[in-house]
Amino acid sequence: MERFEAIFFGSLLCFALAFILSGVLPVAALDKVTPKYQTLEDLAATVPEDFTSLSTAYPEEFEKAFGTAEANSENYAEALRLGRDLYIGDGCWHCHSQYIRPVAQEAERWGPVSEAAEYNNALHMPPLWGTRRVGPDLSRQGGVHTNDWHMAHLWDPPGTVPGSVMPRYRWFFTKDKRPTKRALSIVAYLQWLGDTRSQVDLQTVTIASTMEKEAAKIKEEKSKADKKEEKK
Ligand code: HEC
Repeated sequence: MERFEAIFFGSLLCFALAFILSGVLPVAALDKVTPKYQTLEDLAATVPEDFTSLSTAYPEEFEKAFGTAEANSENYAEALRLGRDLYIGDGCWHCHSQYIRPVAQEAERWGPVSEAAEYNNALHMPPLWGTRRVGPDLSRQGGVHTNDWHMAHLWDPPGTVPGSVMPRYRWFFTKDKRPTKRALSIVAYLQWLGDTRSQVDLQTVTIASTMEKEAAKIKEEKSKADKKEEKK
């Protein structure tokens, strides 16, 4: 019986430790990451040009999908959420990563190495780093292609990029080849990818300029102290 108890409580202890180390601590550490955690509403607060132009390029489809022909924060948030759900549900993450590693010169190919702060928001929780790269990393996909390019590409990848092995996503379109809510949403999501990067850059700049100011202060204090010494 004693042996059983030792194993039982030992296992419980191991489980509790693992839960704290790989569950509680990382979540607690997120608090210290800046910018602070952003909700979907925060992310959709400003409606980007890409999304507005989806509403003007496909007004009928847009109205059918979102109940209004005008792009606003609410339908932008809705599109981002659905876009991300489709990214998961339709298996985009089987072939695409969303993490630029600090190795193999990935930064040359896709832009700056990914930082923790970029993932501290509702659309990256849980993060969709992926495990394979049949296609390229999509961390900084926003703005790389136009909305129309994405529509054509989703309809027929090999017809857009010769030799592509990406599957056709024709169920994102109606029978007469018009985009449905799904196509509009996944394109909005793809154009959003990389958006939080600018805030991380701002943070880095703020940290750098604070450090510069501090350095200048120390220098000034030192020269004042030196002068005092000289006077003596
Ligand atoms: C079977 C693997 C596979 C799946 C699944 C897949 N892709 Fe791709 N994807 C690729 C490959 C390979 C390329 C590169 C060739 C090309 O551009 O078509 C690519 C390219 C892309 C590009 C262009 C990237 C660039 O910078 O030019 C985008 C955007 C994209 N995929 C989005 C998606 C989305 C969204 C989904 C899910 C709806 C998806 N992919 C599913 C393999 C895949």
